[in-house]
Formats: sequence, C-alpha cells, structure tokens
Amino acid sequence: MSERIIGPDTQAGDAALDLSLRPRRLDDDEFINQTRVKEQLRIAIEAARQRGEALDHVLLHGAAGLGKTTLANIIANELGVRIRTTAGPAIERQGDLAAIATNMRRGDVFFIDEIHRLNRIVEEVLYPVMEDFTLDVVIGKGPAAKTMRLPLPPFTIIGATTRVSLLTAPLRDRFGLVFRLDFYDEAAMAQIVTRSAGILGVPIAAGGALEIARRSRRTPRVANRLLKRVRDYAQVRADGSITVSVARDALEMLEVDAQGLDEVDRLILQTILTKFGGGPVGLDTIAAAVGEESETIQDVYEPYLIQLGYLQPTRQGRLATPLAAQHLGLPHPNDDAAEAPQQGWLL
Ligand SMILES: Nc1ncnc2c1ncn2[C@@H]1O[C@H](COP(=O)(O)OP(=O)(O)O)[C@@H](O)[C@H]1O
Ligand SMILES: [Mg+2]
Repeated sequence: MSERIIGPDTQAGDAALDLSLRPRRLDDDEFINQTRVKEQLRIAIEAARQRGEALDHVLLHGAAGLGKTTLANIIANELGVRIRTTAGPAIERQGDLAAIATNMRRGDVFFIDEIHRLNRIVEEVLYPVMEDFTLDVVIGKGPAAKTMRLPLPPFTIIGATTRVSLLTAPLRDRFGLVFRLDFYDEAAMAQIVTRSAGILGVPIAAGGALEIARRSRRTPRVANRLLKRVRDYAQVRADGSITVSVARDALEMLEVDAQGLDEVDRLILQTILTKFGGGPVGLDTIAAAVGEESETIQDVYEPYLIQLGYLQPTRQGRLATPLAAQHLGLPHPNDDAAEAPQQGWLL
C-alpha cells in the first residue's frame, strides 16, 4: 500500500500536507476545539508576555494525531519566539542536550517530542535546566573530572508524549502546565475537514465533510489523510467536488468502514477473536501475528479501539470485546461459555 491512512506521523506525504494544513494560531477557526486547553494557554501566554518572562514548561499528552506538535508550534508562534524541535531518542548523550540548551535565547521554546523516550542520564541533566536554568557540564574524565555549572537564559521546554504513564514522577512534576488532548467529537471533526478542504480549494458538501469526519477515528491527522484521498477520487471519478455519495464511494474503496476502522484494525480484532479465543493475548504476539510494530499498535491503533470499547487492555494482555465481534460479524468466543451452563441445566 502506497500511503497509509492510519499510522505514525513519519510518512513522506505528510510533510507537505502538514505544512499547508497545520493551524498557526490559537484562534477558534484555526486550531479547532480543545476549548479548555486553548483557554488556559491563552491566559498563560498572555501573562508571560506581559511580564516579559518565559512561559512555564508545558507537557502535552494524548493519542497520536490529536495536535500535540501543532500546539507546540502554535505556542511558540503566539509567544513570538523561536522554536527548536527534537525528539527524546535523538538526545543520546548529555552533550547533545548541552549543544541545544546553550543555543537557546531568552523565552525560546525547546520542543521535545516523544519525551517518554529520553534516557535516564539525559533526564537527570534536564532537571536543573528546567528548575533553575543551570546546566551541569562534566569536564574531563576519571578522578580529574570536574563539574561546571553553566547559567542559561530562561526558556520554555514543551514535552509531548503519547504515553504519559511512562514519564517518571520527577520529570512530570517539573512541568508547570500539563494538558491532555482528547479525541474530537463529530462536529469538531467536520469543522476540521471543512477547514482543510477550504485550504486545499476542494468544493465539499456539508454531508461529504460529515461522512469523512465520521470515519476519521476522531483524529485530525486521519481526517486530513482521508480528505486527500477522497479529493483524488472526486477528481478522477466525479467532477472534483466532494458530495456525500462521492465521499461514501471513496471511503468504501479505501476500505475504511463506518467506524473508521481500516484493514489493520480489523485484522487485530479478528486475530484476537479467531486465533486467541478472544484473549487475553500479549501485545507482542498480536504484533507478530498482524505484522506491525508493537509501538505502532500501541500508539496508533489501540487508543481508538479502546475508546470504541472494542479492545480492553488488561494485565494479562488484550481482550477483544463482544462489541468488536459484533462489528466484525464474528461470533465471540465467550458466547459459547455463556450458553454452556444453560445447556447443562436443560440436560
Ligand atoms: N485542533 C486542530 N484543528 C485543526 N487541525 C488540527 C488540529 N489538531 C491537529 N490538526 C491537524 O492534524 C495534523 C496532526 O496533528 P499533529 O500536531 O501532528 O498531531 P500529534 O503531534 O499529536 O501526533 C496536523 O497537521 C494538523 O493539520
Ligand atoms: Mg507529533
């Protein structure tokens, strides 16, 4: 398959799409919904600006594609400062962190994506940076080694993560502002589709936008990817505008079902139901069976399946629910168990 509709944010086609569709400001017609988050951010940003101080450190958490990276860039934009972006795994040694930290200017934003993947040594160097803007640098080796304390200008660290539970308590505690991004409701999703279609210059009917919105797993990134594919379909198979029926036909062709599940989602559920008796089954086993990375399943697929009530994470592993079986038109393994006592009683 050329380009995935669901999947991590590292796809080739995304860069250009992101650039054009990514909201730049906190305005309600740009960064849609997340009203509570926006309101708190507006106040914090305005207060920091008035005092001429750096904004408190910000932690953004939530499932993939809900707007964490977008929001980090908006915050820098609204503050009128520079943003330097990196990801947890990219900061391997304390020297990597020092190189970035010493180049920060007063008030700048340092965005660390996937902050749960920061290693312990780097994390400990980060504590005094976040707390009092001092960087402890070790010079030399062995008994002659000396620690030097470098003062830094105050700046803002924004961390983003899909797995806030993996963050250590000391790291989490050093963020003054913590925001959780939620899945979007249908109306917000339709608004995002309509906004994106406007930017792309595609005529779209309200019903067409709603159809795409409903099948976008309540996730803006998925909505934008679907819109792009539906636009192609509309152009080649229709007159270029996205009506309800064009949207429906295109989504059918893409094998995105009424709940927004794609073939990998269905394969995950089907595997648990038919090969593992409904579960519990371990994540790695599922990953091997469907041929996906465990990380991708956990970050990209599971949150929405859990949200729908199709999948249940337990200590022993994942369970596929009767609701999932119903959606796929399969019998749920527990159905037999439920009938068994009744049969016994009849005998
Ligand atoms: N609230 C929103 N309003 C409009 N578009 C959004 C919103 N949140 C996300 N998007 C769109 O979805 C895409 C994915 O968002 P992104 O910030 O990369 O998600 P994350 O970093 O959480 O995985 C962005 O390119 C942006 O165009
Ligand atoms: Mg991101």
